[in-house]
Amino acid sequence: MKNKIVLITGATSGIGKETALVLAKLGATIVFTTRDNLKGEKTKKELIVATNNKDIHMLKCNLASFESIKNCCKEFKSKYDKLHVLINNAGIWDFKRRESKDGIENIFATNYLAPFLMTNLLLDVLKKSSPSRIINVTSGMHYGTINFEDIEFKQKFSGAKAYRQSKLGLILYTRLLAKKLEGTGVTVNTAHPGMNKTDLGRDAGGFSKMIFKMMGKDPKIGAETSIYLASSAEVKNITGEYFAKKKIKKSSKESYDMELAEKLWDVSKKYLKLD
Ligand SMILES: NC(=O)c1ccc[n+]([C@@H]2O[C@H](COP(=O)([O-])OP(=O)(O)OC[C@H]3O[C@@H](n4cnc5c(N)ncnc54)[C@H](OP(=O)(O)O)[C@@H]3O)[C@@H](O)[C@H]2O)c1
Repeated sequence: MKNKIVLITGATSGIGKETALVLAKLGATIVFTTRDNLKGEKTKKELIVATNNKDIHMLKCNLASFESIKNCCKEFKSKYDKLHVLINNAGIWDFKRRESKDGIENIFATNYLAPFLMTNLLLDVLKKSSPSRIINVTSGMHYGTINFEDIEFKQKFSGAKAYRQSKLGLILYTRLLAKKLEGTGVTVNTAHPGMNKTDLGRDAGGFSKMIFKMMGKDPKIGAETSIYLASSAEVKNITGEYFAKKKIKKSSKESYDMELAEKLWDVSKKYLKLD
């Protein structure tokens, strides 16, 4: 990964931190986003000490704010003229309906709209840097459908349904984006990390927080699929696929529905005010 620039969201803990660590060990320049400068500085120091790679940098970004994402991408482009790997890793799990800075249901905004916007804003530099790769971290919990009648669950909120919808959305987005990017040298795939012991339950609190802290594998294992997609020559020409345990896997029936993907794409563009 020498001379490769990797931008990863949510590397201050869990799977993202492990992904950044290994890619830094492989020699990549790591740029990670953080919404908390103190936590970000601590992470940066830890990663530099652990990897002996000084090319680890952070950018401030709150993914629950379109303005913050736009500023972050602008700053990235002002500092770097190449981007070889974009890993949309950050995500949240919650039981309470909260809203992003833009007044949008927070799970939909953070897990789905944020990667859509970030990718869109960085596509020019990804194309310029091709061959380049986009990795969207999804979940095995993507079963269900897109609730177009009430995509923000304003009527009746369910954290699990909102999470599942956001992760299905990412797979649909990935499959459609892969088609749109054909011939550009930019690939895009999704990674399911499996169940990992992380801080993912922090917002939900209580039992959920405990379950995520205690159940599942070490995030080192969960990070393996993202690392593989970011660095392996075996996948250089593979795009639009869903990966788990470093292998292409079948995802839900709905996640192959290109009409659903087109409809969601149009809805997303309206939210993001894109042409
Ligand atoms: N853990 C699992 O079992 C599991 C299973 C399937 C999929 N996943 C997916 O794996 C990805 C990584 O999750 P994880 O388990 O490693 O969780 P985690 O330990 O909670 O890490 C999540 C990361 O996302 C960041 N983040 C959250 N909201 C943000 C926001 N609004 N703006 C900027 N950064 C934000 C967090 O930053 P802070 O440090 O500032 O909070 C943290 O760095 C997620 O997409 C998750 O859905 C996890």
